[in-house]
Amino acid sequence: AWNMGSFLEEAVREVKQKVGNRQVLCALSGGVDSSVAAVLVHRAVGDRLTCVFVDHGLLRKNEAQQVVETFRNRFNIKLVHVDASERFLEKLKGITDPEQKRKIIGAEFIRVFEEEARKLGDIDFLVQGTLYPDVVESGTATAAVIKSHHNVGGLPEDMQFELIEPLRWLFKDEVRRLGEELGLPEEIVWRQPFPGPGLAVRILGEITREKLAILREADFVVTDEIKKAGLAREIWQYFAVLPDMRSVGVMGDGRTYAYAVVVRAVYSHDGMTADWARIPHEVLANISTRLVNEVAEVNRVVYDITSKPPGTIEWE
Ligand code: XMP
Repeated sequence: AWNMGSFLEEAVREVKQKVGNRQVLCALSGGVDSSVAAVLVHRAVGDRLTCVFVDHGLLRKNEAQQVVETFRNRFNIKLVHVDASERFLEKLKGITDPEQKRKIIGAEFIRVFEEEARKLGDIDFLVQGTLYPDVVESGTATAAVIKSHHNVGGLPEDMQFELIEPLRWLFKDEVRRLGEELGLPEEIVWRQPFPGPGLAVRILGEITREKLAILREADFVVTDEIKKAGLAREIWQYFAVLPDMRSVGVMGDGRTYAYAVVVRAVYSHDGMTADWARIPHEVLANISTRLVNEVAEVNRVVYDITSKPPGTIEWE
């Protein structure tokens, strides 16, 4: 019978044979697919794999540290951690249009990755975490956007690599099982989908350091409470959004004028359609109390009860 163990063995053997004694590069995002692909290829070729983690500064709380901890410290994978947050923030200054944000981030991502690849030199292969559904892509708008960000196909002519796509026959649930088989931590294997442009598309209006700090804390509270309530696996995505909006409130004996935070949580199977999650009121109450108490600059919490369609999962 077909099982993950034998699939893994076969995949490792194939990669080993293909690569020989040449060099492999992988753009690691910390998401499930690139993580599983990287660890699989590492098992096949060891130190001939170098992972480049472009940290655009738009990640969630502790996310970058977790990637470094997992891949460099735990799996002993050669990892280049590029802290490019300054560059991205600079490029995003004054930008409020959602699609423009995506384009800028996508282009800068490729530029940074390319610079790192050049520094390494002499690379023959590029690892991509392409899944079976990507191979047979339906070509929707979202899919196209996802691709424009994740495909490193925007590299210049003289930097074309041969692709290694060890997950191209697998569906998402199979990738998760493979990740478990490879010993990846649960936080990575069961990670919720997270957009390539990161928190940039969850901060409405201009992205600033201050707003990023607020959203990071707010998102941490939402995530923490959903996990504590044991809802993390049944809810497809759960996160905080920071609209460009302040409202009046009262705290102690003073008036406040601070940000509202939107809590978004949806059930979905593939992200194409979604229903807002019927989170118990008690859990929403905890989230609300903690957001207002623990996150400075937040004095109001709203819950998004829009399904997709007509809403999208993200706010931008
Ligand atoms: P929407 O908001 O279109 O999202 O309902 C559908 C799914 O796609 C994710 N998403 C993105 N992923 N780059 C990505 O890699 C993007 O620009 C992007 N926009 C949305 C979203 O998180 C959801 O899972």
